[in-house]
Amino acid sequence: MSDQETHKLFERLPQTVVPTNYDLTIQTFLDTFKFNGHVIIHLKVNEPVNSVILYSADLQIDNATVTSNSKDELPGTIKMDQENERVNISFDKKLEKGEHELSLKFTGDISNRMQGFYRNKYTTPDGTEVRYGASTQFEPADCRRAFPCWDEPNFKATFDITLITPKNLRAISNMPIKSESEYPEDKEWKITKFDRTPIMSTYLVAYVVGEYDYVETKDSNGVSMRVYTPVGKKEHGNFALDIASKVLPFYAEYFNIKYPIAKADQIAISDFAMGAMENWGLVTYRETALLIDPKFSSMDSRQRVAIVVAHELAHQWFGNLVTMDWWTDLWLNEGFASWIEYLAVDKCYPEFDIWTQFVADTFARFLIPDGLKSSHPIEVPIGHPAEIDEIFDDISYLKGSSVIRMLHDYIGDDAFREGLHNYLKEYSYKNTTTVNLWSHLSKASNKPVNEVMSSWTLQMGFPLVTIIEEQQPNNIRVLKLKQQRFIADGSVDGENLQWKIPITIFTKSNPKAIAQQILMEKPEITITLNNVSEHDWIKLNYNSIGLYRVKYESKTLARLNEPIANKTISPQDRLMIQDDVAALCNAGHQSFVDYLKLLLSYADEDNFTVWKSIASTMGDLSSLLEYTDYFDQFKRYRLKLFSSIQQKVGWDPKQDENPLVAMLRPMILSIMGKSGDQAIIDEAKKRFQQHINGDLIDPNIRGAVYVIVSRYGDETTQQELQKLYKAAEMTEEKVRILRSMGQSSNPTIIEKTLQFIFESEDVRMQDTASGLVGCTSSSIGRDLVWKFLQNNWVKLVDRFGDKSSFLIAFVEYCLTDYADGKIASEIKSFFDSANTPIVTRAVKQVIETIHMRAKVLQRDSKAIQEYLTQ
Ligand code: BES
Ligand code: ZN
Repeated sequence: MSDQETHKLFERLPQTVVPTNYDLTIQTFLDTFKFNGHVIIHLKVNEPVNSVILYSADLQIDNATVTSNSKDELPGTIKMDQENERVNISFDKKLEKGEHELSLKFTGDISNRMQGFYRNKYTTPDGTEVRYGASTQFEPADCRRAFPCWDEPNFKATFDITLITPKNLRAISNMPIKSESEYPEDKEWKITKFDRTPIMSTYLVAYVVGEYDYVETKDSNGVSMRVYTPVGKKEHGNFALDIASKVLPFYAEYFNIKYPIAKADQIAISDFAMGAMENWGLVTYRETALLIDPKFSSMDSRQRVAIVVAHELAHQWFGNLVTMDWWTDLWLNEGFASWIEYLAVDKCYPEFDIWTQFVADTFARFLIPDGLKSSHPIEVPIGHPAEIDEIFDDISYLKGSSVIRMLHDYIGDDAFREGLHNYLKEYSYKNTTTVNLWSHLSKASNKPVNEVMSSWTLQMGFPLVTIIEEQQPNNIRVLKLKQQRFIADGSVDGENLQWKIPITIFTKSNPKAIAQQILMEKPEITITLNNVSEHDWIKLNYNSIGLYRVKYESKTLARLNEPIANKTISPQDRLMIQDDVAALCNAGHQSFVDYLKLLLSYADEDNFTVWKSIASTMGDLSSLLEYTDYFDQFKRYRLKLFSSIQQKVGWDPKQDENPLVAMLRPMILSIMGKSGDQAIIDEAKKRFQQHINGDLIDPNIRGAVYVIVSRYGDETTQQELQKLYKAAEMTEEKVRILRSMGQSSNPTIIEKTLQFIFESEDVRMQDTASGLVGCTSSSIGRDLVWKFLQNNWVKLVDRFGDKSSFLIAFVEYCLTDYADGKIASEIKSFFDSANTPIVTRAVKQVIETIHMRAKVLQRDSKAIQEYLTQ
């Protein structure tokens, strides 16, 4: 959401004229990047009108007519409203109530901005020739750049799509091909007609033109499934095909509703802005989110592909069949899919222990932006379409899915499924809002879902539950719980927000079961536990399901060292204890020395996800302490902390090892390498040399090796990396290299990397963010990137478009790790005059974070130094 001042007057389209069917024909010219279009829109006119208004952007509409009762043809007068991306077509005679056909002929450009109908660049398999294809990306509001339409999610209609393309190219769309015939005007061209789509929203329409190979199968319900890949790489589609063919029937059964289209295709698009897009029947993906090289993809990529596929296929029901009425309820789409993707992956690939990862990657991650004063509620009023793009954020996805997980746990799987089924049935082929889901879940569970959930979705932030023990004799423990909003920098919540919190407590005497469960509806409550010895540990929030942080008194916290060290509590709980303490240290509730002491209990930890979480909190602390003169001492602490797990995982995979170990190894290696472990640095250099000479490094640790050699290497190393980059055939490998290049400690090399990322023909726009992240991994790099952003902002805005989420990513990734109030002011004044409203919130968040970090340094730096020196 932008600032109040930038809210423009906006009204949604009137319901007086509604489309029921689009008969769309598109002819593509990939040599000139132009397309011709003709659309006949069947309209239902509810009240007589003289004109109709619909959306159109970047299109040239040459001709408009309306036909009523299949005979009288009436010419229309076309008036564009560029600013609002609308077109008004007026007629001399009134269109009477009833059915009409609006015919529009138009032309447009196949753009280079990865939105609307846009071009994809690729090279022929032998690498010699550059060619282009084209594909669509319409969500949230870019269908209007491909054909004039009622481009709002609640104007659902059916679509009959026809593509006219050169014969040698594939033409693919949402639906199966109905007919293919020669184009009478040119024998080298063909006409492909597709079956009529179900009733659906415009943002889900898709068509792709280009050269592709594919693999295919049928799922257990007979749905035909293909994964389209670049030519010559069809075996890279097998992994995703396998997942999809398991996940699609899983959902059909879970929702108890069959998948309604005869086919479910997925396609890897060479230039793609996001991760993936759930177009009904034709899901589009970034290559790295779909393609797996059976030999050279990392375990991490496999897990990612499984997650993304499971996410997009969930939308085929939750989003496509049942759609939000307006973008305000986007969180429901994305939050739900981001929750159920875990359920599906857990069913198909239990070895990923994916629910534990949910806590580190989703739950713990939304707590960071949502702890800021500049956060926003999950449900945000969206007025102008320009505000839509920025709500595809961590709050919608990560908090949204965490809220669903809490709710699912609160009402139980049976009630959840029943309510969900009834909801999806009732709103199939229709639009809906959040409260309709709550009311079905209430009915199914007999619990006050709406009441409980609205405290989580309608207000921003989340509570900190403080627990204080009152002295009691005789195995009785009396706990006083108090809730208040947790604010990242420790400020007190002036609004005194309150939540309805499902609280659980468990103790040493029965560590695998909940001792007490209560819905906390007041600012303070008292809980009495009988038969718990006074020395036993007590923990709140069993498996970290409730959306709150916990603050223990120091003696209560100290008792948790034991179940952390001997792993009697779950990894979800182990990782959140340290995550909460780190957050409390940032907020000044306690000193970071406490955190560093607490981590000693994790010395024997062996769980991948717990380490991932520690690596993340330690990473934040590292980037802070890099601004002190005792950073080397800190690096020694870090070496010690990670050394025992490094010994355990080593360099090389053991036979039949757990996939999580394959993901843990590179993480540990790169931390140890960056902490200056000479043996590891030497080994990485050695392996890199062998790699260049053709003895390839295990793809799982390749990223870590690249990072280490880039950090400690010279110009020659960088040239080697660039050579590998250019030679790489897989996008996954290219991105791995690109990420490492900027991690050099040499400023000249970082500058060259920046140039390479943004100016080289070899780096796609879609991959710039990955490259930049590497450059900001050190304080020197951060300064160079900030300078670069300032000098090039206008150019970047022009290149990516002023609504591009890439701009948000640049601000977030590049500037958050500063720790100096002066820089925060510099950032503020720069963006105050930059006039790019899409980054307004990101800038606020960054500034708030920088101030928080600066305060931590002032407050704790001396004590940390003393602790590290003793
Ligand atoms: N519907 C989104 C794609 C999208 C994102 C469209 C932003 C318009 C703006 C899709 O379902 C999605 O969420 N994709 C994610 C990946 C997913 C696994 C979280 C993405 O692209 O990052
Ligand atoms: Zn999604």
